[in-house]
Amino acid sequence: MESGLTHCKGSNVMAKAAYHPFSAENRSRQVLITGASMGIGEAFAREFAKRGRNLVLVARSADLLVSLAAELQRKHGVSVSVCPADLTEPETPGRIHAFCQKHNLDVDLLINCAGLSRAGDFDDIPMEKLEEIMAVNVMAMARLTRCFAADLADGRGGGIINVASLGGLQGVPGLGLYSATKAFVMTLTEALHVELQQRGVHVVALCPGFIDTGFFVTAGHNAARLRLPLSGTEVVVRSAIKGLKKNRMRVFPTLLDNLLVFTQRAAPRELSVRLAGFFAAVRDAQ
Ligand SMILES: NC(=O)c1ccc[n+]([C@@H]2O[C@H](COP(=O)([O-])OP(=O)(O)OC[C@H]3O[C@@H](n4cnc5c(N)ncnc54)[C@H](OP(=O)(O)O)[C@@H]3O)[C@@H](O)[C@H]2O)c1
Repeated sequence: MESGLTHCKGSNVMAKAAYHPFSAENRSRQVLITGASMGIGEAFAREFAKRGRNLVLVARSADLLVSLAAELQRKHGVSVSVCPADLTEPETPGRIHAFCQKHNLDVDLLINCAGLSRAGDFDDIPMEKLEEIMAVNVMAMARLTRCFAADLADGRGGGIINVASLGGLQGVPGLGLYSATKAFVMTLTEALHVELQQRGVHVVALCPGFIDTGFFVTAGHNAARLRLPLSGTEVVVRSAIKGLKKNRMRVFPTLLDNLLVFTQRAAPRELSVRLAGFFAAVRDAQ
C-alpha cells in the first residue's frame, strides 16, 4: 500500500492519512491566517509560531502584520510572510493564492478568521457596511477556501478552520446580517468537512461565543451590556487546535458555549432567536 494512504472501509477509495498540524512532515509547510493583525487571528499566529509553525499573515493593517511577523520570527525562529490585503475586493483571495504559489509557500492549514459585524437593526445598516460584511465574512471566506481546498485535497492533505460563531446557530436580533453570514460559514464548512474527509483534509467550523477582542468596538456594539461573559482568545485557539487534530466538524470552545448549543437545540426556534437577542443585548443598548 502506498505510504500515507489507508483503505477506506466500504468503498474502493483509498483514504489519505489523518492530518496533524505539528507532524514533522508539516513543519516545513505554512499556516495561512486571515485577520491576523489582531484579536483571535493574532492569537492563532502567536500559538502556531510558538509551536514552531511557519506563517503567512493576512489583514489590511500592514504595519501591525509586519511588527507581529518580526516579533514571532525573533522569538520563535519561524519564517513569517506578510500579505497585506483587503478581503472586500473580489480578486483578493486569488491574489493571496497566487502570492503563495509565487513564493513557494506550501500552505497546509488555512484559517479563515477575518470577519466583522455591525450592531443594529437590519434596516439601519448602511448599504456599504452590508456589502463589506458579506464580502469579508462570506465571499472572501468561500473564495479562499475554494482556492486552497483543491491544493490540499490533491496534494499532501491539510486543514481548514473557518471561524463561524455561536450566533450562526440562529438569527440574532440586532445582529441579523452577522448571524446570517456565520450560518453560511457553518453550513458550507459542515459540507466540506464530509466532502474532504477521505482526502486527507480536516475541515472545522469554529463557533465561539463572546470573545474579548476589539470586535465589539469595530461593530459599534457595547460589550459591557452583553448578558454572557467574555472569554479569552487562548481558550478559542486551544480548542480549535484540539478540534482540528481530532477532525471535529464543529468546535464550541467553552462549557458555556456547549450548554447554549444544547439549550438552542431543545428550545422552540422563536424562543432561541429571542434568547440570542437577549444575550447579545444589542437592541436594548440603543
Ligand atoms: N470576538 C467575538 O466575540 C467573536 C465571537 C464569535 C466569532 N468571532 C469571529 O472571529 C473572527 C475574528 O474576530 P475578532 O474577535 O478577532 O475580531 P477583531 O479583533 O476585530 O479582528 C478582525 C480581523 O479581521 C480583519 N479584517 C476585517 N476586515 C478585513 C478586510 N476587509 N480585509 C482583510 N482583513 C479584514 C482585521 O484586520 P484589519 O482591520 O487589519 O484588516 C482583523 O485582523 C471573526 O470572523 C468574527 O466574526 C468573534
